[in-house]
Amino acid sequence: MLGRLNIGKHLAAAALVLASQLATAADRAHVVVLATGGTIAGAGAEAANSATYQAAKVPVDKLIAGIPELAKVADVSGEQVFQIASESFTNNNLMALGRRVSALVKDSKVDGIVITHGTDTLEETAFFLNLVIHSDKPIVVVGSMRPGTAISADGALNLLDAVTVAANPQARGRGVMVVMNDQIDAARDVSKTINIKTNAFVSQWGALGMIVEGKSYWFRKIDKKHTLTSDFDIDRLKELAPVEIAYSYGNVSKTAYEAFAASGAKAIIHAGTGNGSVADRMVPVLRGLQDKGVQIIRSARVWGGFVLRNAEQPDDKYGWIVAHDLNPQKARILAAVAIASGYDAAALQKAFWEY
Ligand code: DGL
Repeated sequence: MLGRLNIGKHLAAAALVLASQLATAADRAHVVVLATGGTIAGAGAEAANSATYQAAKVPVDKLIAGIPELAKVADVSGEQVFQIASESFTNNNLMALGRRVSALVKDSKVDGIVITHGTDTLEETAFFLNLVIHSDKPIVVVGSMRPGTAISADGALNLLDAVTVAANPQARGRGVMVVMNDQIDAARDVSKTINIKTNAFVSQWGALGMIVEGKSYWFRKIDKKHTLTSDFDIDRLKELAPVEIAYSYGNVSKTAYEAFAASGAKAIIHAGTGNGSVADRMVPVLRGLQDKGVQIIRSARVWGGFVLRNAEQPDDKYGWIVAHDLNPQKARILAAVAIASGYDAAALQKAFWEY
């Protein structure tokens, strides 16, 4: 009799544990990890190779399996969307990824999305999604500066932090975020400022918050349009408009600008010196391109600050646009989305003030 009672007690205890595990699993957010490649999926020959490695080698299921702590923060599933180094991204990759994200955010069983990505163009993809995905669900883009095979690799903790933020209801409605190096940054603000250090990603107006040992600490929200407040929508976009970037410098010539226009560019981002300055000899060239219908958008090769309208250049007179605080690579993304959405010069300038 006593034996039966003991077995009964053990069965009851096991049932309780199972029930609590099932309840926890049911309570846990469902986060989908969309893998695209990059260093976070990279592999080097030796543990000392923190900068010499091949990107885009490790598949998403191996990335997830390599971090058992993920199961404590969310119910995680993975999809391998691409397996490429991010310098090889194209507009078509952006559109395909955007369409997959748009489909997933409409799924009531999905609570958050993480995109693993190479760091080279990570800020461009994050900003693109920030403009075209209509959802307040957390969308987090994450990468790493060292491959998982390296001593003091940063990818595993970055991915754990990214999934933790994506599973956090407090992260809703903040726009697309980038989580790396314990920091939570806004997609529209952050950029890769250093090419081989783990603290590469910096937002000139400051991070949104930090994540430390699984707890998120929030310090600000974005005062710009994004996601649910955006006028753009991936579901209404067929493709991105062709927009190119011309880097300016002493002795700059018209060759690149005219070649871009001849190739069909709808806009050229002028990555100008200083405050988006234009060399005297280039003013008639850019005005001529503007007259032919190529939008001229003045950004700057300088990392910080923002390009002032009608300061050193009479933008009103020339019909030029200023990119405000967006760097050339982000200005290209906004122009490509806006022009593809039918925006003219006036609407485009308004968009650069608003997003
Ligand atoms: N090839 C670069 C990329 O995929 C590696 C840089 C990285 O992912 O950190 O963006």
